[in-house]
Amino acid sequence: MSFERTHYCGTLRAEDIGKEATVCGWVHRRRDHGGVIFIDLRDRTGLVQIVFNPEVVLPDQFTQAEKLRNEFVIRVRGMVRGRLLGMENPNLSTGAIEIYATTLEVLNEAKTPPFALDAHTGVDEALRLKYRYLDLRRLEMQETLALRHRVAKLVRDFLDARGFWEIETPMLTKSTPEGARDFLVPSRVQPGEFYALPQSPQLFKQLLMMAGIDRYFQIARCFRDEDLRADRQPEFTQLDIEMAFVDRDDIMNIIEELVAFLFQEVVGEEVKLPLRRLSYTEAMERFGSDKPDTRFGLEIQDVSEVVQDTNFRVFSDTVRSGGHVRGINVEGAGDKFARREIDELGERASAYGSKGLLWLIVTEEGGRGGITKFFTAEELSRLVLAMQAKPGDLLIFVADKAKVCADVLGRLRLFLGEKMGLIDHDTWGLLWVVDWPLFEYSETEGRWEAAHHPFTAPLPEDVELLTKAPEKVRAQAYDLVLNGTEVGGGSIRIHRREVQERMFAALGLTSEEAQSKFGFFLDAFDYGTPPHGGIAWGFDRLIMLLAKKNSLRDVIAFPKTASAQDLMTGAPSVAIDGQLRELHIRLTPEAEKKVKVPSTAKKDQ
Ligand code: AMO
Ligand code: AMP
Repeated sequence: MSFERTHYCGTLRAEDIGKEATVCGWVHRRRDHGGVIFIDLRDRTGLVQIVFNPEVVLPDQFTQAEKLRNEFVIRVRGMVRGRLLGMENPNLSTGAIEIYATTLEVLNEAKTPPFALDAHTGVDEALRLKYRYLDLRRLEMQETLALRHRVAKLVRDFLDARGFWEIETPMLTKSTPEGARDFLVPSRVQPGEFYALPQSPQLFKQLLMMAGIDRYFQIARCFRDEDLRADRQPEFTQLDIEMAFVDRDDIMNIIEELVAFLFQEVVGEEVKLPLRRLSYTEAMERFGSDKPDTRFGLEIQDVSEVVQDTNFRVFSDTVRSGGHVRGINVEGAGDKFARREIDELGERASAYGSKGLLWLIVTEEGGRGGITKFFTAEELSRLVLAMQAKPGDLLIFVADKAKVCADVLGRLRLFLGEKMGLIDHDTWGLLWVVDWPLFEYSETEGRWEAAHHPFTAPLPEDVELLTKAPEKVRAQAYDLVLNGTEVGGGSIRIHRREVQERMFAALGLTSEEAQSKFGFFLDAFDYGTPPHGGIAWGFDRLIMLLAKKNSLRDVIAFPKTASAQDLMTGAPSVAIDGQLRELHIRLTPEAEKKVKVPSTAKKDQ
């Protein structure tokens, strides 16, 4: 038997006046007006106003309508009518009409929800996550999920038309290193052994290239046990892509076309191709970040040469000892900022890891405040010229190692961009960051680590430096950046066994370790591996930016909190004893104590 729904609530328009309609949904709001009851009925398409008039509906139906409460599930049949003159609601897509109910059927009742579903702000997020199914009823959330679906569909269509095959890769697998900790799954049938959940499909997509698939993609779930932030989730989705017989430009070109296609379809924005490309070094020097937000200026400038011979020791000593002096011209802030605001910048700089922040305000006479007094008039005017400053500008400087200058000024730049309202939120800052270093030195581990992952190919001319001078090796890698967020990263891969082995050696892996971790992969290199490369987009991040949200939690149907919990299901949760025994696992005394206390406490009650 059909449910006989004729329309979705939010789709009714003036053209439907005079039609009979049956709609289903949730009571969003109820108002009583002098014997007449108005209901806003909601489904995923929006709201429609229903009118229960005692002169039109049967008395027992009217009595039922009087009992309706928010979130009751109902089916209503009635006549679509134009609203009375002056009663139209321009804020509602169905605001020109209303349904004059003739029949009401209550399909289910509802308790009062723990938070109002029409409130946009102020609802505690923990409460929203605990009752996620209610939170997702909010139209704002539904629009985001619809957008996510739509983008996935567009991506599939685009890639399908270009010969890509969508292929699934395993979730229960061996470790795929992407720089995070693995989630492990114990094996019941192989005592003491574990699967790792994939941090990405990286090895499998490369194996697919070795298998002759030529063009692969997957909208793939990835798992990383890392410290969470607003733009990180322990399980997240990638749009994962790999191609054989391509070079860096082939991949970047097709990805740019996909970007342009999505922006056109989703936000109606024409993206000019080719996208801007910044080298990693330039990005770090000018923006202090490997994912620069290019929607505003405040670029970082290096004045080391200009100040190295001044009598101001902080500057000259820093440059002499191999450091840099870099600064930002905070245009106009010399006039605008109170002293307290300048001091706040200094506090931030210290919190970001610098010894402090040096500053001066440019005036007609030269400068005032801060470090002005350390310079001769001539030194000052050279500095002002180098910073392209004019009276009223605030100049801020950090004197330190290049990395500290970049970090601190990069973060101050973002803070200032936001504080001074310089970021145009209607534009899109899209670019590639290219020519990455292949390695980065980990102070905590005391060794070189892969800047991306260990399968990234070095530039051919740098292969010889792999073990000799790792800091000099450049990678055939590229990151896609949108509005200061890394939305994607990829590379040309190593496709020769001997280079891959040298890469592992450079990362400090012995050949036994390499063999036990990646033997299957290294072996595959011996059977005819084509040159190949690819990229993965953070799909959730892309949706977050397109939907202009601040948190990944707002674009994932059932996300986890910052402490990696699912507040709705209560995961992670305690395993029952038998399960652990089957899995050959015993808890440490500390873990045992932690999980036992609440359950015995419950028994005692
Ligand atoms: P990478 O590790 O850079 O590359 O990941 C690709 C993209 O995935 C997104 N991302 C995340 N999104 C949400 N939560 C997380 N915890 C998280 N971690 C990463 C980012 C990132 O740009 N296999 C390689 C890709 C390749 O070389 O083809 C990889 O996984 O937007
Ligand atoms: P000091 O003379 O070391 O007390 O420093 C005076 C001020 O200069 C302090 O407020 C610091 O914030 C700042 N400062 C000192 N060294 C540096 C540096 N290398 N870069 C930026 N600011 C600095």
